[in-house]
Amino acid sequence: EADAPFRRRALPVYFISRETPREAKWTGKMDKSEAVMNYQTLERTIGHQFADIGLLDLADQLKYEKKHNISHRHLEGKSLGMIFQKTSTRTRVSFETGMYQLGGQALFLSNRDLQIGRGEPVQDTARVLSRYLDGIMIRTYEQKEVEDLANYGSIPIINGLTDFCHPCQVLADLMTIREKFAVLEGLKMCYIGDGNNMANSLIVGGLKTGMKVSIATPAEVMAFAEPNPNFFITDDPMKAAENADVVITDTWASMGQEAEKEVRMKAFQGYQVNDELLAAAKPGCMVQHCLPAYREQEITTKVFETKFSRKQKTACTHRRPLWLL
Ligand code: NVA
Repeated sequence: EADAPFRRRALPVYFISRETPREAKWTGKMDKSEAVMNYQTLERTIGHQFADIGLLDLADQLKYEKKHNISHRHLEGKSLGMIFQKTSTRTRVSFETGMYQLGGQALFLSNRDLQIGRGEPVQDTARVLSRYLDGIMIRTYEQKEVEDLANYGSIPIINGLTDFCHPCQVLADLMTIREKFAVLEGLKMCYIGDGNNMANSLIVGGLKTGMKVSIATPAEVMAFAEPNPNFFITDDPMKAAENADVVITDTWASMGQEAEKEVRMKAFQGYQVNDELLAAAKPGCMVQHCLPAYREQEITTKVFETKFSRKQKTACTHRRPLWLL
């Protein structure tokens, strides 16, 4: 272990908020005044998820140790329950393999298998799972369900995606960006597309780490607009992309929004990450996507296959659990 470049740190505990957010829901024709989620509200709701950005140092440390076959079984004897009310490829595999690498075990609990899927109140599930497990990762629709688990349970709860936010993904994005640029502070991060869970978490994660954040989303789907010198929201993708170091996008129709696909395809025309848009960003900018990606919709095949490198994709995939537990 002598050549490890980073000091070993105490493992952080990652608690979710006990506050309930106001959610801005897509109606198909939401206007700016209806959709009032200001940055203060957003920050208060999910800001703590990025409060200890030292998590990223720990992640670098663990990644280094993994690469050099240095054992780091910090979670030996611990069990993580993973509740999935929505589908998952990367989150499930990364948490499960992460737990294994850390010496613990992960239990995959789908909606179909849990009594929660048959209507058992979340407080009963929370109480009983708190006795068996050492932590729970949950991917679900409503943020409130995650909050309820935390309120009624007595073990750490990890948000593995809700309609409202996607903190684990954004921590992975920040880690990957920092690997390329060595710093985060002062970089410009631009997000093009739906004002969704990814947008919410990117705004908070980006601003918390000293980045400049610009968002381009159609006016009628703007979830919030609050003046902040480092924050810029517009309906013009080219303006948002100007001089960006990192360009990020996500699907136009998230999980649970399948029925709105048609209206969304129309609303997001012009919000594609393509060569023209990247010409406005800094030369050599980075392109990130949380996946799954829909080629020729939010991103062209060409940009996806060339700018969004394999290395970045695996980075997103494998690191998430390693710094969360
Ligand atoms: N916004 C997407 C993210 C998928 C990882 C969704 O919620 O489906």
